[in-house]
Amino acid sequence: MKIRYVVKQILIAGILTLSLAVNASVFADEDEEGERHERHEKHEKGGRHKGAGRVAIAENAIYKSECSSCHFLYPPEFLPKRSWEALMKGSDRHFGENLALDEKTGKEILSYLIESPAERGSSEWAGKILKSIGSATPLRITEVPYILKEHRKIKPDVFKRKSIGSFSNCGACHTGAAQGDFEEDSVSIPKQ
Ligand code: HEC
Ligand code: HEC
Repeated sequence: MKIRYVVKQILIAGILTLSLAVNASVFADEDEEGERHERHEKHEKGGRHKGAGRVAIAENAIYKSECSSCHFLYPPEFLPKRSWEALMKGSDRHFGENLALDEKTGKEILSYLIESPAERGSSEWAGKILKSIGSATPLRITEVPYILKEHRKIKPDVFKRKSIGSFSNCGACHTGAAQGDFEEDSVSIPKQ
């Protein structure tokens, strides 16, 4: 795990240096340039490891039946293990709802969720999520600094549109979310 991380960092550093050299003559503001680097890095990676731009989709039957009736079925790799543990421990006071799970069901869901949390996620986002939260234990994906940063340009009013409702409703804009696809190319924000 550690070695893989180091190799990844070296790879990223290499790609960034390369694109810096390529872009050096282009005049752009810092933010734009940063985003271009990100995109560049992603394409390079996508070419090398197929599927890195997708998250594993939730295939667990109990997780599906107990956790998708009120909202989008969140990918386990969007939160670290400790967050899922905290969420399941508080399932009787879940954002104002009592999920009323019996002990066995709760345990089964938790053991599924922590099979592949952010620490073990295969997507590029899992690592970025983990790194951005440091030692915190967010109870929401929508509170993760990396996720907030990626959505900073969306005005609060947009989330309130009828077909969206809230930031937590990932699938409203990420049209491939149910297939684990959160790539920029698949984003389409509903007009109302
Ligand atoms: C009875 C309805 C209900 C059920 C069933 C339910 N949730 Fe939730 N959940 C909510 C509400 C309400 C919120 C807050 C959503 C909001 O603020 O828009 C929420 C939010 C969340 C969030 C944070 C979303 C974000 O903003 O990032 C996670 C993670 C989550 N639920 C996981 C689960 C899991 C795991 C289960 C199954 C054990 C589950 N939920 C079942 C009602 C429910
Ligand atoms: C109102 C629409 C909307 C909602 C709701 C939304 N997103 Fe996004 N998301 C976007 C947009 C727009 C981007 C930026 C795409 C770009 O950079 O061109 C984005 C970017 C992302 C990215 C980064 C993609 C990349 O590689 O650059 C991730 C990961 C992501 N969203 C996850 C989520 C998750 C998880 C949720 C739900 C908790 C969510 N989003 C809810 C619109 C939305």
